[in-house]
Amino acid sequence: MLMKKKIEPNSIHNYLLVVLALVSFLGLAVAITSSQISSNSLTAEPPLVSTEYLSEIEGKSDIEKVEVVVTPPEFPENLSEVEKGELLYKQNCVFCHQADAIGKPGLAPSLTNKDLLANASDNFFLTTISKGRSGTGMPSFAHLNEKNLRSIIAFLRSHSDVSNVSDEVNAQPDAHGDPRLGKQWFKQICSTCHGVRGDGYIAGGTGTAIGKKGFLDVVSDGFIRATIKEGRSNTRMLGFQGASGLANLSDQEIDDIIVYLRSIPMLGQ
Ligand code: HEC
Ligand code: HEC
Repeated sequence: MLMKKKIEPNSIHNYLLVVLALVSFLGLAVAITSSQISSNSLTAEPPLVSTEYLSEIEGKSDIEKVEVVVTPPEFPENLSEVEKGELLYKQNCVFCHQADAIGKPGLAPSLTNKDLLANASDNFFLTTISKGRSGTGMPSFAHLNEKNLRSIIAFLRSHSDVSNVSDEVNAQPDAHGDPRLGKQWFKQICSTCHGVRGDGYIAGGTGTAIGKKGFLDVVSDGFIRATIKEGRSNTRMLGFQGASGLANLSDQEIDDIIVYLRSIPMLGQ
């Protein structure tokens, strides 16, 4: 029979607790010593080898390759695509991109921004999320398979009812212009937030790494052009055309900047 008892100070229970603590302490000590003994006895075995060495001796030994298998998450039945995406988002992205993916300047950009969602294709998201952006804080999530990534995208898109115009944006002609003029604009206006080489947050600003391959290789000139013209509402990225812009750049000036941006990775450090 179970009885609720009040533990009185100095009662027998307290002594029992002390004895219990002592016993577990001794047990721990024994465990540590025995693990030391067993690791000592391991030193008689060949030392741990690097993977290079492993491949050298491949075929000559029966050491098996260890394969790391990451199992994609499993969900309760009948969750909608958006709900799955929300779960995955909370597990993998919320730490940096914040609740509701609103982002945080200098930590991670907003993913529910309506201008981003309008201009970015699903492929842009798929590639960016699975490859990450090397040299920035955006890690690769290749281990989440495409199906899961598509659920995350559905969750992100559920935050905005703007229509996705990425097909038209990506079909825009490539930029032609003078990178030297673009460089001047970039240094004058963009580098304050994006860094002098477009390095992004590493340079101390709030803008992302638009001079790095992780961004440039994934986006079309149309995407960059639309972002410069329209900006990203409710972020520090204001549009650069029209009266409300930080500066009123002409179409040609914007193209000069794009051509310069594309040349940054080729210029080296
Ligand atoms: C450790 C922090 C971190 C985590 C975790 C993280 N991100 Fe990012 N993410 C970033 C940073 C930093 C950038 C901006 C990189 C740059 O400067 O270009 C970014 C950029 C992005 C972009 C490009 C946005 C744009 O404006 O072009 C997308 C899309 C994105 N992340 C999606 C995700 C998703 C989805 C997850 C979860 C599966 C995730 N990220 C997890 C830090 C993170
Ligand atoms: C006052 C700061 C600021 C200035 C100045 C600025 N940007 Fe930005 N830019 C940002 C921020 C912040 C973001 C990301 C928005 C977010 O955090 O959600 C961004 C995003 C972008 C993006 C999208 C990048 C991506 O990762 O998807 C492009 C392209 C861009 N800016 C180009 C430019 C260009 C070109 C200039 C100069 C003409 C410029 N920006 C000037 C702050 C700035």
